[in-house]
Amino acid sequence: MAASAKKTPSQNGTTAPASPISGNRIVTLDEFIIRSEKDFDYATGELTGLLRDIGVAAKIVNREVNKAGLVNIIGVADSGENQSGDMQQKLDVYANEKLIECLKNSGECCAVASEENDDYIQIPPVGSKKSHYIVMFDPLDGSSNIDVNVSVGTIFAIYRRKSDPSGPATKEDFLQAGVKQVAAGYVLYGTSTLLVYTTGRGVNGFTLDPSIGEFCLSHRNMRIPENGSTYSVNQGYYSKFDLEMRRYIDNCSDQNYGLRYIGSMVSDIHRILIQGGIFLYPSTRKYPKGKLRLLYECNPLSMIVEQAGGKAMNTQLKRILDVVPTELHQRCTIAIGSPAMVDELKAFIERYSALPL
Ligand code: AHG
Ligand code: MN
Ligand code: MN
Repeated sequence: MAASAKKTPSQNGTTAPASPISGNRIVTLDEFIIRSEKDFDYATGELTGLLRDIGVAAKIVNREVNKAGLVNIIGVADSGENQSGDMQQKLDVYANEKLIECLKNSGECCAVASEENDDYIQIPPVGSKKSHYIVMFDPLDGSSNIDVNVSVGTIFAIYRRKSDPSGPATKEDFLQAGVKQVAAGYVLYGTSTLLVYTTGRGVNGFTLDPSIGEFCLSHRNMRIPENGSTYSVNQGYYSKFDLEMRRYIDNCSDQNYGLRYIGSMVSDIHRILIQGGIFLYPSTRKYPKGKLRLLYECNPLSMIVEQAGGKAMNTQLKRILDVVPTELHQRCTIAIGSPAMVDELKAFIERYSALPL
């Protein structure tokens, strides 16, 4: 039986308590990045610049997300003027613009690709500086949750470019397997605002202290629990899932696992990172290849989860980070979370797909 005994709620393996580098001193994101630069395989300062740019954008987006209920910024991008006569702008378009704008600051990023743009965008060089990185992002994940005051996020992935740094970026720079990410992270605009990132040497989280306007180290060396007691899937699509997925979900229910689904992938993954569990977005009739995007949703979150000790695969049982993309906005199926739960699902898929139809 792939089904294991009922799992106890995980308490171990969650994030370390708020823990500055030494003593009780507050450690800001900038300081932490600078101190960790020696762990980064490439030139000193490059990553600092990129992460700092993203951190600044996150603060600006956070400010707007926070006042979404106050100002009439919510609504469709082309809906014209708001009550005060300002042009209305949808928040994901706003977040997209701010990220692009901020990534121009350090001169480390030569091009970006985003959920909000059909094609990648070149970033003009800063002086004679050669930029070695491209950044991909989902500027606002779960954006339909804005109107109902539920957590949303930003997801980002950083790659070293393959093309010659003296010329423009090329599509090949973007179509790299997730295993090539040099850094990845997310920002969660929740009850507090958190920036979580990895450069391939563990995962650390920083909570925004609004009183000083700084992200401060709050979740050091995050580790996902080996197992969990909740699953996260849009169960409304149950009848549209493949047999093996339906059987796995039945098993979750039989095992009395709790169902938790926020509808913002960042929020669901963050909970799983802390408490354990599994997140699923399998193929449906509407989205036979899955709904979520490989390059700026699944890859960065898979890197984070793997770096925290978890697993991420598609429903063909291939490791997400090994998938070589062919399109910028490629979709994929995903199962991601606590390693024991991903392994259990794998056993279900192997068993049920071997059955005669
Ligand atoms: P986005 O807001 O960037 O388009 O992403 C929404 C995604 C993801 O965050 C979430 O897990 C999923 O869509 C929810 O989809 P369903 O409503 O189909 O469950
Ligand atoms: Mn998204
Ligand atoms: Mn989005």
